[in-house]
Amino acid sequence: MANDLETLKDETLAALKEARTHSEWDAVRVGTLGRSGKLTGLLRQLGSFPHEERKERGQALNRLRDELTGLIEQRGKEIEELALQQRLAEETVDVTQPPATAPIGLIHPVSRTIEEITTIFGAMDFHVAEGPDIESQWHNFSALNTPEHHPARTEQDTFYLPATGESEEMRVLRTQTSGVQIRTMLGEKPPIRIIAPGRTYRADHDATHSPMFHQCEGLVIEKGITLGHLKGCLTEFLRAFFNQPDLPVRFRASYFPFTEPSMEIDIGWSRETGVIGGGADWLEVLGAGMVHARVLSNCGLDPAEWQGFAFGMGIERLAMLKNGITDLRSFYESDLRWLRHYGFSSLSPATLTEGF
Ligand code: PHE
Repeated sequence: MANDLETLKDETLAALKEARTHSEWDAVRVGTLGRSGKLTGLLRQLGSFPHEERKERGQALNRLRDELTGLIEQRGKEIEELALQQRLAEETVDVTQPPATAPIGLIHPVSRTIEEITTIFGAMDFHVAEGPDIESQWHNFSALNTPEHHPARTEQDTFYLPATGESEEMRVLRTQTSGVQIRTMLGEKPPIRIIAPGRTYRADHDATHSPMFHQCEGLVIEKGITLGHLKGCLTEFLRAFFNQPDLPVRFRASYFPFTEPSMEIDIGWSRETGVIGGGADWLEVLGAGMVHARVLSNCGLDPAEWQGFAFGMGIERLAMLKNGITDLRSFYESDLRWLRHYGFSSLSPATLTEGF
């Protein structure tokens, strides 16, 4: 082989050996076989050689090209393999190890309770719907069949926000999640099965009332839905939530403007010991009822065709009962001692199979 070819081969092999990364390897490849590569240059110059030398040099060049192409390819594969091995070594995760930094934080009881509620209703084919905290009076009251003179509408109960335009009426911080019922019926075609957990606001502040608290609304709209479905669904929910298959559940007639008939739902407990499920006393935990025909009409649904039930619950209240928390205000004080005591590990999420 001519001297210059020998040199090119040696140089290329040395450069290949040194290349450690894909881009270094690629530089060698292009610098040799690329359009302005060294070997390509030599092939181009072939024409300037005297006729008798040309044939032999041409063959030598072609052989060298094949040889180098093979070697470059092989080195490319080696580098790829090297990179893979490196990644595998660096990215090893031992999933059986606890996180080195645990425990960093805990899940707040409000978040945990929402997760538990969502898990139970999720298994009954409900999905989660959301609505805005700042709501129109129509969504929060009027569409829900709440008359102008209803006491819930007064400033003692409801936070009003200044109107933003001349024609616009004042808006409210939603006093209940029931407005999400309205938004869902207007925005979706039945059948509907939703729950709507979220923040709610009322002008109230003491050990059992906070100006901001959480509710979870529920709504089912289907053909042929009866009070029986409501009772079965909510009994099932309460028994799963409190993890007591025989938990006593009582449906007591009540009144809400947006349901007819309406009821409050109590669970058995002992006033004396606070034990849920035991004792002869009753404790109210849910509001519910069959969706009022006027509410269905307000949302463009024909009450002769569609029926449904709705329910609402206070999330802090359920969290307090279940976890023995006595003061509602403690939920929002960000006291680390309280959070460490009542918080839930992020490594044991709510699952139905294990019970809560
Ligand atoms: N919105 C009611 C409340 O805040 C609860 C409720 C919701 C009752 C849905 C019936 C149906 O008290």
